[in-house]
Amino acid sequence: MSTQTPAGYTYGSTSPSPVTRDDLAKLEASVLFTEEDEQALRMAGDVLEDQVEDVLDVWYGFVASHPHLVAYFATPDGTVLQDYLTRVRGRFGQWILDTCRRPYDDDWLSYAHEIGLRHTKDKKNRTDGADSAPYVPLRYMVAFIYPITATMRQFLANKGHDDEAVERMHQAWFKSVTLQTALWLQPYAGDQW
Ligand code: HEM
Repeated sequence: MSTQTPAGYTYGSTSPSPVTRDDLAKLEASVLFTEEDEQALRMAGDVLEDQVEDVLDVWYGFVASHPHLVAYFATPDGTVLQDYLTRVRGRFGQWILDTCRRPYDDDWLSYAHEIGLRHTKDKKNRTDGADSAPYVPLRYMVAFIYPITATMRQFLANKGHDDEAVERMHQAWFKSVTLQTALWLQPYAGDQW
């Protein structure tokens, strides 16, 4: 875990998630997430620890090169909010390591709910006082599973692990991002979730 707490990062002090541990277990089973994936994510945490900024450079480059995506970090008239980007970047980096290293327990579930809320009308912009688009559309939340997964493979392969280990880490990452995106959709969908 990073030694400095990123601005606006409130892990451990957010309201409980409406998603139960039983819901989580069923969702984990639905994405075939097992103890082996947990172990592979622990390994991925060690592989990624000193590459977080490089991963974020790739992801931010991807967002920056698509005006329809960077709009969610901009004012309604299209001025990109650098402070907002920078503050969110710190939390995004922390999330990479949390995904690999945190136990998926009640605190994790609560913060997953908080991350979902921070993409919706309920809480987007609030943490950073940003004058930006009021929510990230649900369809892009789902679509992002692909780039957030595909771009990770090169980083997982950077520390000399054999192909089989890289594949295990990559599959575990893919499952976790899918699982978390499903959790983040709860505040969008309410009781239809
Ligand atoms: C915030 C991840 C989809 C725009 C965040 C944070 C994370 C994250 C970890 C910081 C959470 C925190 O406050 O601790 C992801 C992942 C996605 C996804 C893994 C999909 C798989 C998107 C999309 C957009 C987007 C499609 C649109 C460009 C934002 C914005 C914030 C944010 C604007 C700041 C929200 C706020 O005001 O607090 N995201 N995100 N995200 N993300 Fe996403």
